[in-house]
Amino acid sequence: MSENETVTGRVTRISGPIVYAEGLGACGLYDVVDVGEAALIGEIIRLKDGVATIQVYEDDTGMRVGEKAVCHRRPLSVRLGPGLVGTIYDGIQRPLKSLFSSSGAFLEPGKRSEPLDAARKWRLEPAEALRSGAAIAPGAVLGYVRETESVNHAISVPPTVRGRSLAWAAAAGEYTIDEPIARTELGEEIFLAHHWPVRRPRPFARKLTVSEPLITGQRVIDVFFPLSKGGTAAIPGGFGTGKTMTQHAVAKWCDADLIVYIGCGERGNEMTDVLSEFPELIDPRTGRSLMERTILIANTSNMPVAAREVSLYSGITLAEYYRDMGMDVAIMADSTSRWAEALRELSGRMEEMPAEEGFPAYLPTRLAEFYERAGRVVPLSGGEGSISVIGAVSPPGGDFSEPVTQHTKRFIRCFWALDRELANARHYPAIGWIESYSEYAEEVRAWWDRLDPRWSSVRAQALELLKREQRLQQIVRLIGPDVLPDTERIILVVAEMVKNGFLQQSAFDEVDMFSVPAKQVVILKIMMDFYRRSLAIIRNGAPLAKISALSCREEIVRIKTTFANEDAAGISGVEARMNQELDELERLYRKVETV
Ligand SMILES: Nc1ncnc2c1ncn2[C@@H]1O[C@H](COP(=O)(O)OP(=O)(O)O)[C@@H](O)[C@H]1O
Ligand SMILES: [Mg+2]
Repeated sequence: MSENETVTGRVTRISGPIVYAEGLGACGLYDVVDVGEAALIGEIIRLKDGVATIQVYEDDTGMRVGEKAVCHRRPLSVRLGPGLVGTIYDGIQRPLKSLFSSSGAFLEPGKRSEPLDAARKWRLEPAEALRSGAAIAPGAVLGYVRETESVNHAISVPPTVRGRSLAWAAAAGEYTIDEPIARTELGEEIFLAHHWPVRRPRPFARKLTVSEPLITGQRVIDVFFPLSKGGTAAIPGGFGTGKTMTQHAVAKWCDADLIVYIGCGERGNEMTDVLSEFPELIDPRTGRSLMERTILIANTSNMPVAAREVSLYSGITLAEYYRDMGMDVAIMADSTSRWAEALRELSGRMEEMPAEEGFPAYLPTRLAEFYERAGRVVPLSGGEGSISVIGAVSPPGGDFSEPVTQHTKRFIRCFWALDRELANARHYPAIGWIESYSEYAEEVRAWWDRLDPRWSSVRAQALELLKREQRLQQIVRLIGPDVLPDTERIILVVAEMVKNGFLQQSAFDEVDMFSVPAKQVVILKIMMDFYRRSLAIIRNGAPLAKISALSCREEIVRIKTTFANEDAAGISGVEARMNQELDELERLYRKVETV
């Protein structure tokens, strides 16, 4: 099948973004079609009785029945190569920045634009395999291109190449993405860039189990509900509970090598925030612009719904490409509910039988197709790479029993449930500790044990304490705090410290926006020591008021904002003062007992 072989049909019916055409019976499902005189980009999503159903990725207002539809007999693909990083794309990989000037924030329908800069020359550092006669296989690394200061881009043999040796190889030098750098014995040319169909997962050698956490610098995540590199997480939450803020915090601070951020169908101004804010952010590890390790995909609610539907697959294909270079990639989608709504709208236009709440019956299959592309793998080139997926879900009315949240739960292993009450109380991040969970805690435990073996014990103690606090709060609400003995009221006191001094973490606080793993564990360890020792002292007869009056209590709660990540000595100072104050009380009450 040649790439230039086209088939021309005619538009027979138009229903918004769904267009029907005849004469395309010889084409394949998911083939790309130029629809109408304006040649809008579309994709065949159903073929039945000689009629092709085409989903159109651009605004087709004004299109008429009878216009032509030209099928290219190749699937919708993205172009993969140097120049992706730092770029802002729409759902079908048209760069937004280069078109901003000519047509504002929106793209002119039918306007084509190369996803990668074809004029730019890249300096190729050849690898061992880039020489004529060399044996090759898909994934073999032929050389490197310095894409940005943070990203060393490996150029490999594309998975579709069938040749097994190089008949010709280019020398070190500068090349554009359209200049061949090698040719196989079968005559196939290899370039710095290649196409890949977005709906087809890229191949890898084998899947690995996950073992390392994706460190986000957010304590409630890293300690309580950890995500692993190669794991999947969902952030469900009603409007304004902090989905976008949480995803931004993770995108900014997590220790992935590359970020793919998909802004999906949210209000236009929210996306504008991302577009203006991200380029100004500094990567804390490299000291350089975060855009040097970020690719943005923007679909606002006023862009065509079909482009929103495909943006998830475009994004994850870009993520797989960098995973295949041995990188740890994190991909965020905000929000998958807007994506599911696009699916629902398209399904409705096609007059399909709706399932729950109007969503098509294949909603769970499509969600799975997205989340299942996460994972830690051995790429074809060897080594190791991973994709971690974090999807925001915006259930209407914040009701988690709706279909998108429920189906998403089947495919993710980490659930960061945003709690309306916490958000109202301005407890941020509003990740509820009762409803949230992570199934990765056991898998990442060995990693934490090497860093600080107290991670798993203080984690378990704190989660248990918060569970007990929740039960006690129910009693307090019914009959007031006075009925509780001091041995239980201390739980309320310490739980408050954990909430204020550990779980709450302002994204706007210069010191606290990012907490290193060591600091996270030590804060919680101090709080758990405070609890254990206070309880013993109360059991020796000290009234709770004596504990509450200790000045170290406030100091502990303020560690997070007072001491910078590197300031271990400052934190030890607080711990020493705490132990001193508790020693004193302990002596006092031991004495009373013995007299
Ligand atoms: N970690 C945080 N630190 C400080 N403020 C936060 C945090 N998370 C959320 N907020 C506050 O909540 C508001 C709404 O958050 P946002 O992420 O836009 O909600 P959503 O995307 O769920 O609608 C933010 O504008 C901010 O004021
Ligand atoms: Mg949001």
